[in-house]
Amino acid sequence: MKLVHTIEALRAALRAYDAPTLVPTMGNLHEGHLNLIRAARPLGDVTVASIFVNRLQFAPHEDFDTYPRTLQADCDKLAAEGCDVVFAPSEKEMYPEPQGFKVQPPPEIADILEGHFRPGFFTGVCTVVMKLFQCVLSEAKGPRHAVFGQKDYQQQMVIRRMVQQFALPINVVSVPTQRAEDGLALSSRNGYLSEAERTEAVQLSLALRALGRDALAAADGLSRHLPGLEARALQALAARGWQPDYLTVRRRTDLQPPQAGDALVVLGAARLGKTRLIDNFEI
Ligand code: PAF
Repeated sequence: MKLVHTIEALRAALRAYDAPTLVPTMGNLHEGHLNLIRAARPLGDVTVASIFVNRLQFAPHEDFDTYPRTLQADCDKLAAEGCDVVFAPSEKEMYPEPQGFKVQPPPEIADILEGHFRPGFFTGVCTVVMKLFQCVLSEAKGPRHAVFGQKDYQQQMVIRRMVQQFALPINVVSVPTQRAEDGLALSSRNGYLSEAERTEAVQLSLALRALGRDALAAADGLSRHLPGLEARALQALAARGWQPDYLTVRRRTDLQPPQAGDALVVLGAARLGKTRLIDNFEI
């Protein structure tokens, strides 16, 4: 496995291949990320993992400075999974000057849910992902793939739209969420949880599953019943000591409130102590 830190070295390393597959990450890799690598490997002829903690997608009060940076351990894990190239640029390499040009996704998909509670988040994500696509995929001669986890459901939806609207010749692949034995969605931020919080953390996914069941049971009267069901789910989690941002049922295609007959996804974000967790289930 090759570890490269510059765009020039990356492009040189990829010259021998036709069909790169990119797995963008911010490092501190867990089984969920490794599963993305496993999904990526059969797709092309070279698998590239990027590791870059992207300042642009963090608000000033968020955990950019404390986000765990574990490059050596990450590389060991990636090598064991058969990843071919790791692109781990410095901030100076990715943003040699302040990034004035940005990719701004439309508010109807980017200012709701995560984007409502993390203003500017999806502009930061789209900007770095577009740049990573340029670095890793733009010179390919054959098919190009990029692999994202479904745990960040809205993120993969926004990126799909970006790829579609910019007519990028990239196949976006979504991989189902990996979960711990108790059902907690794997996330680098789970590492912030105390022992007691870790035991409690599964309650977010349980609350979402319960809300999903209630929504399916409401079936025809869904739009009438949904506000009440969502409010109840929110209160139940708050009563356990969480600070929920949202627990909601949306239609899968654009994450707008659903109409009868829409394919549905239930999504949530909530803070447990200092740790903000997100999760979702298609129902
Ligand atoms: O999902 C993530 O880890 C990040 O948002 C991504 C896609 C690597 C962009 O920084």
